[in-house]
Amino acid sequence: MNESRQQLLFPELHNIVDTHRPVNVASIPQRSPFRYPGGKTWFVPTFREWIGSLHSNPEILIEPFAGGGIISLTALFENLVSYVIMVEIDEDIAAVWQSVVNGDSEWLAERILSFDLTRETLIKEISRKECDIKEKAFQTILKNRTFHGGILADGAGMLKYGENGKGISSRWYPRTLAKRFVDIRSIAEKLTYRRDDGLDVIREYSDREDVVFFIDPPYTAGGKKAGRRLYRHCTLDHNRLFTLCESIKGNFLMTYDNAEEVKAMAKKHGFQYRLVPMKNTHHAKMEELVIGKDLIWMDN
Ligand SMILES: C[S@@+](CC[C@H](N)C(=O)[O-])C[C@H]1O[C@@H](n2cnc3c(N)ncnc32)[C@H](O)[C@@H]1O
Repeated sequence: MNESRQQLLFPELHNIVDTHRPVNVASIPQRSPFRYPGGKTWFVPTFREWIGSLHSNPEILIEPFAGGGIISLTALFENLVSYVIMVEIDEDIAAVWQSVVNGDSEWLAERILSFDLTRETLIKEISRKECDIKEKAFQTILKNRTFHGGILADGAGMLKYGENGKGISSRWYPRTLAKRFVDIRSIAEKLTYRRDDGLDVIREYSDREDVVFFIDPPYTAGGKKAGRRLYRHCTLDHNRLFTLCESIKGNFLMTYDNAEEVKAMAKKHGFQYRLVPMKNTHHAKMEELVIGKDLIWMDN
């Protein structure tokens, strides 16, 4: 029996564990200035494969829950799509992407290079209330790089020891960060950012056949409830998201924690799923779910 016939008759057989080894993230170009909780650098190879499996490169990629935006940035740097729309509801992150789109990447690069990081200057800088968007963007990058796990949600705290006892400086690499902003300037004109509800933007573009979506929602259902600690905006109507995905005329790929209730939702909405191995921030091997309309390309 050929594979696609087998898939039709026994779809369950195809929702199998992928035995590939976890991706070595060090081999993937780091384009994002964020050190983002739940960041998808490890997913870049799978994303490239997905775009390669489509009939032609899509016109527009929409990332409705963009966070640190590594997938959007990679798609533009590697010419995998012509245009990207990033959507993110968090106002701190919004300030960074809005500044990039406003043409303030170089200003941010210079601000990063000239900042003398000490505990005192950090506290003074992030307590400033009166600031414009680009200054707020700088505050966000500072917090993201000096707080535990890059977490911006309320309750997050500054690194005490960090890597090698270097405390708040252990993740502050001014030259690297500045270079990322300078590089991003070269793709900024192909990028739109919207501070919006990702679900509304999916609905708005669901009729477009030339649009693909990479969907990485905050996940608070099921067992782990990690999203609640990591993101300020973590409640989402997952059923509505799955229903909206059914109406997508183009294509989409979703990633989720590997939880039974998510698999059940995927089945209920007629989607396929696969497991992709990854290493979490503590280097433990884990698997994440990938959900889509047709994932046969993942089986080779
Ligand atoms: C799992 S993270 C995305 C991580 C991202 N893929 C990356 O590589 O950095 C989910 C993001 O969705 C954002 N978010 C939560 N609810 C949202 C909503 N309704 N619309 C848009 N963004 C939302 C959160 O602030 C969080 O940044």
